[in-house]
Amino acid sequence: MNTFPLEPIEKAGVDELRGLQQKRLKATLRHAYDNSPVYRAKFDAAGVHPDDCRTLADLAKFPFTTKSDLRDSYPFGMFAVPREQCARIHASSGTTGKPTVVGYTKNDIDTWAHVMARSIRASGARPGDLVHVSYGYGLFTGGLGAHYGAEKLGLTVVPFGGGQTERQVQLINDFRPDIIMVTPSYMLAIADEFERQGLDPAKASLRLGIFGAEPWTNDMRMAIQQRMNIEAVDIYGLSEVMGPGVANECVETKDGPTIWEDHFYPEIIDPDTGAVLPDGEFGELVFTSLTKEALPIIRYRTRDLTRLLPGTARTMRRMEKITGRSDDMMIVRGVNVFPTQIEELILKRAELAPHYLCILTREGPLDALTVAVEARHDVAQDSEQAQAAAQQLAHDIKTFIGTSAKIEVRAAGGIERSGGKAKRVLDQRKGL
Ligand code: DLL
Repeated sequence: MNTFPLEPIEKAGVDELRGLQQKRLKATLRHAYDNSPVYRAKFDAAGVHPDDCRTLADLAKFPFTTKSDLRDSYPFGMFAVPREQCARIHASSGTTGKPTVVGYTKNDIDTWAHVMARSIRASGARPGDLVHVSYGYGLFTGGLGAHYGAEKLGLTVVPFGGGQTERQVQLINDFRPDIIMVTPSYMLAIADEFERQGLDPAKASLRLGIFGAEPWTNDMRMAIQQRMNIEAVDIYGLSEVMGPGVANECVETKDGPTIWEDHFYPEIIDPDTGAVLPDGEFGELVFTSLTKEALPIIRYRTRDLTRLLPGTARTMRRMEKITGRSDDMMIVRGVNVFPTQIEELILKRAELAPHYLCILTREGPLDALTVAVEARHDVAQDSEQAQAAAQQLAHDIKTFIGTSAKIEVRAAGGIERSGGKAKRVLDQRKGL
């Protein structure tokens, strides 16, 4: 099926993998301590030294790294090589305050291209494929990450970037790509644009979509696969750890991203106590880089909530598809709600489209949740059908999630499209 051969490490036994991880972990801790004053100070304050790490379990003795560590050392303070040795800088936009800045040596760029090539291959790419990249290029890691990986694998790359939806459709029609790499929410916007132009997106040339950069549910996968007539696989990553390609689903199983454990060591912790949890338990995902030079990352708290699962298509462990970030969790009258839970319920209603926004307001002393959601383009927003679907959605939210929600059905196009990551939560309670 897949005509790109696997690398030996993808087929290695667990003992070999753990041995490699242990060796690389020790070297990474040593590199961070010797070359980054920020890490040295953190380790010293915690009373640990790289020599204290003899086994992988010893990693738990070392302090976590958080986004604020990176912000406090803005822009280059955490780097473990002189800035002159960096081949590239990326940064996250950062909704508040300063962006998070990350750096890559030439070797880091090669490693990243390597794990991205592995990811694209695991997704089901074949030699000679043409890939249309709609992840944003620039400081965001999505576009260039995808680009270098696809080139390394030997594919033909169309570096479109985000936005200009009408032209995206035109080029997909004209160039006939096999693969698209894009956020799942923007894929839907592109599919809508196909229809607006009177074209059936299922008839486009695409065979495979590699979707990530934001949470999306398995129901969303089914909806995209059907509408586009493609395979839809999940790619995960974050700029602080590398960018896209930290983990990727294998197309033959589509059962959660396989973590490329020879480069990124995962842990799951209890977000409240910081205690390491056993595989299979839900908690916050934490990563330690095993091969990075410019910005080694030790026990980085991703704020992404998931659990570790045994390997299936590969020896390496998988992570369950991410249900949400702790940052996106809404607490509505004491009930924890993730946008993805709402998404699942919206996708059950044929009259509604999965373009939605959760709006939080305050009614007196109480939180109120409004779900703004679009009607399908062939359903009038104020029709009986749409209103019945809204009522049913409110009922489902109450039944399955346990909170009341007001549903505001908007006409097709009534929810702002992002061209990249979708914004799912608008919290208007702040400052009240
Ligand atoms: O979003 C890197 C990326 C680009 C991944 C393209 C995949 C494809 P950041 O902007 O630093 O990097 O955002 C990282 O996005 O901590 C998750 O919360 C979320 N995220 C990324 N991939 C997934 C995914 C890129 N497959 C943050 N499922 C992460 C759920 C994801 N959430």
